[in-house]
Amino acid sequence: MADLCALKKEFEKIYGEGGEIRFFASPGRVNLIGEHTDYNGGFVFPAAISAESTVAVRKREDRIVRLKATDLDGIVTLDLDKIGDYKDINYGNYQAGVLDELMKDGYILTGADLLYEDSVPHGSGLSSSAAIEVVTAKIFSTFSGEMGGKEANKTELALIGQRAENKYVGVNCGIMDQFASANGEKNMAMFLKCDTLECEMVPAEIGDCKLVLSNTNKKHKLGASAYNERRSQCEEGFRLLHEVMPEKTCLGEITPAEFEAHKDVIKDEIVKSRVTHVIYEDDRVLKSVEALKKGDIATFGQYLNQSHASLKDLYEVTGVELDTLAETAQTVPGVIGSRMTGAGFGGCTVSIVKNDAIDNFIETVGKIYKEKIGYEASFYIFDIGDGARELK
Ligand code: GLA
Repeated sequence: MADLCALKKEFEKIYGEGGEIRFFASPGRVNLIGEHTDYNGGFVFPAAISAESTVAVRKREDRIVRLKATDLDGIVTLDLDKIGDYKDINYGNYQAGVLDELMKDGYILTGADLLYEDSVPHGSGLSSSAAIEVVTAKIFSTFSGEMGGKEANKTELALIGQRAENKYVGVNCGIMDQFASANGEKNMAMFLKCDTLECEMVPAEIGDCKLVLSNTNKKHKLGASAYNERRSQCEEGFRLLHEVMPEKTCLGEITPAEFEAHKDVIKDEIVKSRVTHVIYEDDRVLKSVEALKKGDIATFGQYLNQSHASLKDLYEVTGVELDTLAETAQTVPGVIGSRMTGAGFGGCTVSIVKNDAIDNFIETVGKIYKEKIGYEASFYIFDIGDGARELK
């Protein structure tokens, strides 16, 4: 957890002393399995991690919101009455997007000074942006409640964050990251059906193993455009399947057997591959959750490996960096399973590794990665932590 005393001192140095300074936090996430299924109304299985966005905040009397990040120079000033104007700023557009959505939703907003300390590594695919969106929504919705306005529940916090990202930042993401950040619970993974937002908390018990995250540290990613392209390919595939299965409302409702019976309506091979991934990935989530509940970690790990292969071959969102990490990991003794996590094109893999094999895992995978890719990977072991909250 962030050092709140140090954060308070830094806050006072930047914004001055006095008034009531409060602290809020919201985490990043790791998705165990269920990738690129969320925007298809399918299943995902994420958990919140102990890396988070922690914010020191003090209300102001006016309509000005000032933002500063501990690892960035400069203070960004937003005027709540011109909140639509900040889409192109380098830092602060996630927060501005959230404020815009809160305002459109009828929350009562106040000005405030905020200092963000982010321990989710940026660009790691561990949802540093969702952490910032959800903590910002939590802060201003709490203030709204205190001023007699509406206050958001956890699901609403997630939806506000997602809309900010879709409409303001321009990434057509699904609900998984923001939902996990808002709803996380210590040592629990969230088995979430993304069209209804029904969620079951499942103990993330992986025996004598830990989740090890390996970061490709890849700098230039395809990012938003490739993500949005995958999403429209899925929409195209669903449009065709819907013509022969009009009762279905999304790909997430179609079983593998139903898909096999009708898949020939999709003529475009790329679109067919994308949809094949989604249908079988969804099925893997169901089976993985069952395996985990039974304590069958070995089977759970096999589904992780299959998920990676499908994301590589059918969905084509991995790349040589993620493939090197995951495929090397899968050959290391004591590794139960390994796959990319998040959107892909860079970012992290998640591996389930036996405790006594972790040192060798990091050394072996790190060495092979450096040899093949030319720069270092980073490795993290996070706890599974709580979702958005005020820190008292
Ligand atoms: C990103 C998006 C999520 C989800 C994943 C892929 O993290 O923000 O909504 O689509 O990619 O599973």
